[in-house]
Amino acid sequence: MPQNATVNRRIVLASRPSGAPTAEQFRTELGEVPQPGPGQVLLRTLYLSLDPYMRGRMSSGPSYAAPVGIGDVMVGGTVSKVQASNHSNFKVGELVLGYTGWQDYAVSDGKGLSAIPKEERHPSRALGVLGMPGFTAYMGLLDIGRPVAGETVVVAAASGPVGSVVGQIAKIKGCTVIGIAGGADKCDYVTRELGFDFCVDHRADDLPGHLKAACPQGIDVYFENVGGAVFDAVLPLLNAKARVPVCGLVAAYNAIELPPGPDRLGLLMGTLLRLRIKMQGFIVFDDYGPRWSEFADAMGSWVLDGRVKVREDIVFGLENAHEAFIGLLQGRNFGKLVIQLAHE
Ligand SMILES: NC(=O)c1ccc[n+]([C@@H]2O[C@H](COP(=O)([O-])OP(=O)(O)OC[C@H]3O[C@@H](n4cnc5c(N)ncnc54)[C@H](OP(=O)(O)O)[C@@H]3O)[C@@H](O)[C@H]2O)c1
Repeated sequence: MPQNATVNRRIVLASRPSGAPTAEQFRTELGEVPQPGPGQVLLRTLYLSLDPYMRGRMSSGPSYAAPVGIGDVMVGGTVSKVQASNHSNFKVGELVLGYTGWQDYAVSDGKGLSAIPKEERHPSRALGVLGMPGFTAYMGLLDIGRPVAGETVVVAAASGPVGSVVGQIAKIKGCTVIGIAGGADKCDYVTRELGFDFCVDHRADDLPGHLKAACPQGIDVYFENVGGAVFDAVLPLLNAKARVPVCGLVAAYNAIELPPGPDRLGLLMGTLLRLRIKMQGFIVFDDYGPRWSEFADAMGSWVLDGRVKVREDIVFGLENAHEAFIGLLQGRNFGKLVIQLAHE
């Protein structure tokens, strides 16, 4: 059923996954379109962002944010149209960025909403390069990675919204940039379209050997998006005083136990100590919220002048959200994954 004016489709968390999520963990509920009260707006969702962190919200284990409750709407960033307004700051017809989740409609008191400029021709970019993923790439690379011209920067999930922006900023800063991505098409895109110097396919044989060949000067900044076998290949190549912003560990998000094999903690700690490597995790809005406008100014002009290129993977229909999300955790997306719920 497509989006319509009278029914609110909501995708709720039906159960918590063990390992990779399946369709069973999601349930679609149909309800009435909510009515805005005094000081509230009614929002109609046009675009829903799908992001790897949502896998963490489906579980009840320790995290930096509360899990989604069973029966609650799945959380997510959205671009919505104001359908009705009893709020002086928002007019009917305006587009806003919010966090209204996997549903067609939501009411809001305006807190956490920000207006998307009327002249923005690609409003969905507020969920990607001009939004949370772009901000993550910008802060993690520049504040923790601190790349210097001539250094070698490596980033995995290199065709995705975080990795692609990390690599492009590192190129702007004059670095040699090596991407790691899944498959020949993504690697081709990363080098030909985005201008990375080289890209290694982590799904092909001998990732450690290919990465070593691609980084003859070693690695000065490794922007960590995935962990797992990719990090195992990176660790022996890190240079003295390397910086490792730990942004995400998507290879382990569906894991239910530690990976098999010898305990590598001693190797990691020994390498950090011997080479005086700085490895630091971060949660972008918690750690860098006040620097949003600095990011927005820089990224806005880089995108405008074509120095940062954008690729979106837009899937139409809320009913396809859970399959697209399951695919995201397996690398089936190619670019920033966005669900389009309706045409404006
Ligand atoms: N710390 C923060 O504040 C923050 C904020 C936003 C995002 N993040 C993290 O940043 C990372 C990237 O996010 P994104 O939105 O840009 O995701 P994304 O690139 O759109 O999607 C995740 C990608 O990870 C790759 N992947 C999945 N399993 C993998 C595996 N086993 N080994 C290697 N690569 C694998 C896949 O790309 P390939 O096909 O190329 O392998 C997949 O497309 C995620 O870890 C996310 O959680 C952190």
